[in-house]
Amino acid sequence: MLTASFSIRICNWDEARAEARRVRELVFVHEQGVPLELEWDEQDPHCEHALAHTPEGLAIGTARLLPDGHIGRMAVLREWRGKDVGALLLQALVEQARDRGHATVRLNAQIQAAGFYRRFGFEAAGPEFVEAGIPHVAMHLDLMSARGGSTG
Ligand SMILES: CC(C)(COP(=O)(O)OP(=O)(O)OC[C@H]1O[C@@H](n2cnc3c(N)ncnc32)[C@H](O)[C@@H]1OP(=O)(O)O)[C@@H](O)C(=O)NCCC(=O)NCCS
Repeated sequence: MLTASFSIRICNWDEARAEARRVRELVFVHEQGVPLELEWDEQDPHCEHALAHTPEGLAIGTARLLPDGHIGRMAVLREWRGKDVGALLLQALVEQARDRGHATVRLNAQIQAAGFYRRFGFEAAGPEFVEAGIPHVAMHLDLMSARGGSTG
């Protein structure tokens, strides 16, 4: 499959805010119906944010890494899905977590997206639960076994 050359940038909330908000509001609020007040929390300023841009500089995807090693708010604009943007965002934040010394990366996956994370070695654990009206499952990736015991 031919893919365009998207760029992935890791940035802080001041740098990411405007573009991340636009992408997240389009995907979570408008597309998935998550209430606006649930989409925004106090965590963003403490997170590292990954942003995906087209070669023309349009932001088309975002995700964040919390200080405790959780990945969240993974969103790719609908018209840009299936082109490896999500894969690049996830891999960038997993690498970031490894650089920060985390042994495990965790996330709460929407059930419909669990197969996406499974492709990158994440395993589900625990029962399904509902968050923002959407069924989720907790997933984790062991970074030690994912790189044959490397401590990064
Ligand atoms: C989930 C999401 C981030 C995936 O992004 P994407 O850019 O479409 O994913 P990619 O193109 O990088 O896909 C990588 C691989 O995962 C697969 N994949 C993508 N979405 C999938 C899904 N929901 N379930 C199973 N596999 C999936 C792709 O087919 C691809 O497989 P391949 O390498 O064999 O071709 C995107 O669909 C999205 O933003 N969805 C709406 C918001 C959302 O659900 N976020 C997740 C919240 S937990």
